[in-house]
Amino acid sequence: MTNFLTLADLTSDEMHDILDLAINIKEAWQAGEETPYLKNKVLGMIFQKPSLRTRVSFDVAMLQLGGNALYLSPNEIQLGKRESVADVARVISRYVDIVMARVFGHYDLVELAEYASVPVINALSDYAHPCQGMADFMTILEKRGGFEGQTLAYLGDGNNVSTSLLFGAALLGMDFTIATPKGYELHPAVWDMGRSLAAETGAQLVATHDPIAAATNADVLYTDAWASMGQEEEAAKRRRIFPPYRIDESKLAPAKDDVIVMHCLPAHRGEEITNAVADGPHSALFDQAENRLHSEKAILVWCLDAA
Ligand code: CP
Ligand code: NVA
Repeated sequence: MTNFLTLADLTSDEMHDILDLAINIKEAWQAGEETPYLKNKVLGMIFQKPSLRTRVSFDVAMLQLGGNALYLSPNEIQLGKRESVADVARVISRYVDIVMARVFGHYDLVELAEYASVPVINALSDYAHPCQGMADFMTILEKRGGFEGQTLAYLGDGNNVSTSLLFGAALLGMDFTIATPKGYELHPAVWDMGRSLAAETGAQLVATHDPIAAATNADVLYTDAWASMGQEEEAAKRRRIFPPYRIDESKLAPAKDDVIVMHCLPAHRGEEITNAVADGPHSALFDQAENRLHSEKAILVWCLDAA
C-alpha cells in the first residue's frame, strides 16, 4: 500500500515507472483492450473544493479499470468540521479500497493518510497537485520524447501546481525556471526539497522575477491561475500585479520555435493566458487535460500495487 501525497515522496525510478505505466495503459485503452486492473475496487473521492478534471477523470478512470468511484461533495463529509479527519479516515477505510481527497490544508491529507488503512491520493491541496504534475510530465514525454536537456519555464504564482512541477522536473532531470512577481515565490522549503531531488539528476532549478528571461529558449511554457481556490479575496490585487507574467505573444517569441504551452486549467482567459495562445498551434492544454485520465489510472494501479 502506497500513498501519493507529493511527487517529492517518489524516487526518480518510481516517477519513470508510473509514467511508463500511464503510457502503456493509454495505448491499451486506445487499442480497444480491456484494462481491468482494479476490478471491483472502489475509490472514495473527498472534495473540499470544486473540480471538473479531477472529479470526472478519476471517476472514469475507475470505471475503465473495472472498479467504481464514489463522489463525496464538500457538504457531505465536511472534513474536520462534522467529524475529525482521523475518524473520517478510520471509517472510510472500512468501506473503500483507496481514497483521494482535494483539501485546503495539506496537513489534512497527511492526517488522512496517517489514520487510513487504505492508500490516500492527493487530488490537490494548498501545497501540491501531484496528479496534475504526473499528467503534465506524461504530456511532455509524449510531445518531446524525453526530459533531459529541456527547460520548463513556469510564469506566474508560486503555488501548488508550480511546486509539483518543480519536484517532477527535479526527479526527471528536466531544467526548471520559475518567474514570479516579488512576494509570490515558491517557499524556501520547496526549494530545499527540489534541490535535494535535483542533486541526483542534475536538473537546473532557477528562480527569477523576469518573465522574458524565463521564457527565453524554453521548450515548455506553463502558467496557472493567478489566484488559486481559497484566494478569491486576493484576486483583484493579483490582477494588478501579475499581467507581466501572462503567456502571450511576447513570451512565445523568445521561446523555442516548437515550444509547447501548458496550463493545468481552469484557465482565466485574458488573464494568465491569451485566447490566441490557449487556442493556438503551440497549445497542449487539452492533451494535458486528457492525460489526467490516463496518468491517474497509473497512479491508482501503482498505489494498489495492481500492475
Ligand atoms: N486541473 C485541475 O485539477 O482541474 P479541476 O480543478 O477542474 O479538477
Ligand atoms: N492553483 C490552482 C489549480 C487548480 C487546478 C488552484 O489551486 O486553484
